[in-house]
Amino acid sequence: MSLNIRDVICKSGYIFFRKYQSNASIIEIAEHLGKTLVPWESGLVQTLVPRAEATPNSYSGIYGLNDFPFHSDLAHWRTPPRYLLLRCIVGFADVPTLMIDGHNLIDAVTLDILARAIFKPRRPRDGSVSLLRLCQPVEDIMRVRWDEVFLKPASRIGEIANLRVREWLSACKPTAISLAETHDTLLIDNWRMLHARSAILPGRETRAIERVYLEALH
Ligand SMILES: [Fe+2]
Repeated sequence: MSLNIRDVICKSGYIFFRKYQSNASIIEIAEHLGKTLVPWESGLVQTLVPRAEATPNSYSGIYGLNDFPFHSDLAHWRTPPRYLLLRCIVGFADVPTLMIDGHNLIDAVTLDILARAIFKPRRPRDGSVSLLRLCQPVEDIMRVRWDEVFLKPASRIGEIANLRVREWLSACKPTAISLAETHDTLLIDNWRMLHARSAILPGRETRAIERVYLEALH
């Protein structure tokens, strides 16, 4: 992988490639960039399509075609995937992916509060409940997690952090990147950035985005 990609990810938390490598599959691109991760059985590539209705314990089941709240992916896992790679199959400029830099969240809410805020998955996984911090030093970085659907506060500082993060998110100005054209590709540092899908406008129901998780870059 070129030094440039690593530099940009390090500086911005994401990198966007317009109409990237039209002859390559998302798997080829992901394997070129880093080490892929299969989050669940036969789930290496997930195809994300808007759904007005879905199971109640999913974003689509709760929010349907409305905008999704900011989150990091699989925030209720003890070790969430480090990166997510999104690749456009059918896209629209007016359905942007929104991103918030976790560094700004830390500046606003303070590391002290976020690092002490204990959360737990809303539903136990594998019969056990893990206690998770919103912010934790891992390797040489500060890993951020957030998900208002799948995580809930489990301590008094957690309750405080919950209110402050929600308040800050409701007022912050996200970066909007549109996966508008086929093969537009977006790599996001999932330990740093929060992201959200904006609302699916009428006529945009055919949107289709592929996703692959990476546990590291080469
Ligand atoms: Fe997501």
